[in-house]
Amino acid sequence: MSNHRKQAPLSKDEILKMRIACQLAAKVLNHTAKFVKIGMTTNELDLIADDYTKSLNAISACVGYHGYPKATCISVNKVVCHGLPSEYKIKDGDILNIDVTVKKDGFFGDTSKTVMVGNVSKNAIDLVDAAYKAMMVGIEAVTPNGFTGDIGFETNKYVTRRGYTTIKEIGGHGIGRVFHADPFVPAFGKKGKGEKIVPWTCFTVEPMVNEGTDEFIEKSIPNSDIKYYETQDGKLSAQFEHTLLITDTGYEILTLE
Ligand code: MF3
Ligand code: CO
Ligand code: CO
Repeated sequence: MSNHRKQAPLSKDEILKMRIACQLAAKVLNHTAKFVKIGMTTNELDLIADDYTKSLNAISACVGYHGYPKATCISVNKVVCHGLPSEYKIKDGDILNIDVTVKKDGFFGDTSKTVMVGNVSKNAIDLVDAAYKAMMVGIEAVTPNGFTGDIGFETNKYVTRRGYTTIKEIGGHGIGRVFHADPFVPAFGKKGKGEKIVPWTCFTVEPMVNEGTDEFIEKSIPNSDIKYYETQDGKLSAQFEHTLLITDTGYEILTLE
């Protein structure tokens, strides 16, 4: 998601605030992921994330964001992203992406990971591994004053080699003083194309990797402008997300705990 707001480079003080927000997001994600258990509902997981966020004196940036009603997005199996926590009971063999965005002191940290539950199929294990590495390959393609297309190019090349597909229309985003800003960070593209990567700004890298087709279906969320998405063929989708700070010599991953 991108709302086309250009980001000015962050000051030293603002970078410190981003570090804090991102550390909190990482803590909430890892804390929440530890509780994943067969038979519990995704609503229960959402509550764990929300309570823990509050206990850290932060807030979940998702609550009320364009009318979104929950603290996290939990995307199970064929759900590509923005899965809405519900009374769905987690089953043996599920893969679920937990996506956490924390707001602290006016700044945002955004991170997600896909968790495997119980006896997961070989296919699912391979897909989740590919999704994690796709994110890392994308991150490693980040260079200050390079282009977002460099990230997308490497991500898509890697995912295609693994026999999977990337979502083209949804991707990473600038983040900092706002939740979603420029640039759009694609999971496909051409080297040297896209938007310029500006030192001392932040953005997320969050490729969505599908087992089958890259086509997806849009689903609405009651009373919200946010949509969630499912693979068109009903096959699995997996995702990981980190928030990065671009420096003048490289980048730092801010959402590593
Ligand atoms: N965290 C998601 C992202 O990676 C955005 C969720 S917006 C919400 O960009 F409203 F659905 F929570
Ligand atoms: Co994001
Ligand atoms: Co996110």
